Amino acid sequence: MNLATRIGLATGLLGSFAGTIAYLAGGGSPPTAAATVRWESAAQCRSCHEDVYAEWHGSHHQIAFSNPEVRALSDDFRKEECMDCHLPRPLAVTGFGKRTLPRRTHFDEGISCISCHLGADGGILGRRDRPEVPCRPRASAEFLAVDACASCHNQHGTTDQWRASHFAAQGTDCSSCHMPEVTRHRPDGSTRMGRGHVYRGAHDPATLRQAGRFEVQRDGGEVVLALTNVGAGHNFPTEERHRAVDMTYRFVGADGGGEWQRAWRFRQPYRDEMEPINPGNAPGENAQLPAGQRHAVRLPIPPEALALEARLWYRLTPFVSDDDPRSTLLEERRLDLR
Ligand code: HEC
Ligand code: HEC
Ligand code: HEC
Ligand code: HEC
Ligand code: HEC
Repeated sequence: MNLATRIGLATGLLGSFAGTIAYLAGGGSPPTAAATVRWESAAQCRSCHEDVYAEWHGSHHQIAFSNPEVRALSDDFRKEECMDCHLPRPLAVTGFGKRTLPRRTHFDEGISCISCHLGADGGILGRRDRPEVPCRPRASAEFLAVDACASCHNQHGTTDQWRASHFAAQGTDCSSCHMPEVTRHRPDGSTRMGRGHVYRGAHDPATLRQAGRFEVQRDGGEVVLALTNVGAGHNFPTEERHRAVDMTYRFVGADGGGEWQRAWRFRQPYRDEMEPINPGNAPGENAQLPAGQRHAVRLPIPPEALALEARLWYRLTPFVSDDDPRSTLLEERRLDLR
């Protein structure tokens, strides 16, 4: 941003804050709704919360309405019900924990500062009352609660899975993991602690690698491949039915490696899918891995095998090959069997 735009923005903001500032300076009667700012766009928060804005901008919350994957599946939002969560009105307006309703403005802002932070009375919601600060955030328990995420994130049970997990029992909530602490810098050079707004998830390999512990061991005449959900506060993979996690392997003999085979797939099937996800699953059975749980597969070692190679894959959509960009290799192991 160049200086002229900065000044332009600052003057605009000063104008909109005139009511509040007059109140603060004069110490007169409390400002009425008319005297305060009408918050309607993330752009209004940007000049004072540049760092939060930068984290949010480019996140999957910001791109929720422009995301090409969503546009393709929603037939360019001709399926209007898709807008409910991908271009929502403020949570507090429809009610925390309730299904959100669609809006018709600020299409490039998807799920924005306004969607989460705007109170029903037009003020800003946060963790503390800060009447001395220009945007005057007010403490709101509902805004901080997991129900705020549940409005959109329980369609496929993510919030219910979390409630049933040891993470919920120990007080580790969605924000503990998805909004890590960050240092914020004040204009006067001092710092304070803030919370990250990128909301890393299935599109971030580092976050995906925190979810599972992959074990590859020999046990007599067998090899054991196992995955434990140690780091996801809900099923792994979670949410969309088109996410999948695969354990794959091949035995290596004197003449090289054989074909890669799938030992197990973790996934929630589509509603009308009749083919079981794995041999041993019932048709329609959910094969996601709940928080804290381990699933092991035992493979007999063929006599000619010299080694075993094993891989753990994450796929944004299940029916893609290993070399598709929607497949991410999370772990790779080699076990000597000689
Ligand atoms: C004119 C500047 C300005 C604008 C515009 C502004 N804020 Fe603020 N806001 C501040 C300042 C300054 C603080 C205090 C930060 C600190 O403690 O250093 C603050 C604090 C906050 C806090 C509380 C931080 C905490 O935990 O104490 C929240 C939440 C917040 N702002 C949200 C917003 C949102 C959302 C918008 C846009 C809708 C917005 N603000 C617009 C200046 C502004
Ligand atoms: C109840 C709220 C809600 C509704 C309604 C909704 N979605 Fe979503 N959608 C979400 C949430 C939450 C996510 C993020 C979780 C995830 O990515 O698995 C998401 C993610 C997606 C993704 C994955 C994006 C990516 O980059 O991987 C696609 C595609 C998608 N939605 C399409 C749709 C379509 C099409 C519709 C309408 C038929 C729709 N959604 C309706 C909440 C909703
Ligand atoms: C108004 C609906 C809504 C609310 C409220 C909401 N989300 Fe989301 N969230 C979405 C949608 C929709 C997506 C996927 C958008 C896309 O990919 O196009 C998403 C994506 C995500 C992702 C995945 C990002 C990725 O890259 O895969 C995480 C993590 C996430 N949200 C966490 C949260 C948490 C934690 C909360 C509560 C503080 C929350 N969300 C509140 C709708 C919402
Ligand atoms: C203990 C840490 C932890 C907690 C608690 C947690 N998550 Fe996650 N979350 C993860 C990890 C790790 C991943 C990546 C693996 C995956 O996709 O399952 C993830 C992935 C996600 C995704 C991406 C799904 C997709 O397909 O794009 C969403 C959305 C999400 N979490 C929402 C939530 C919500 C909502 C809550 C609270 C109800 C929550 N998370 C609680 C760690 C956590
Ligand atoms: C998906 C919901 C969501 C969106 C979108 C969102 N926030 Fe937040 N924000 C939260 C939550 C929840 C907290 C409180 C975290 C805590 O303290 O536990 C928070 C905390 C904050 C804080 C105080 C902590 C800090 O890091 O300084 C500020 C300031 C803030 N948000 C500003 C913004 C701005 C500006 C935007 C848009 C660019 C925005 N938020 C978008 C949910 C959201």
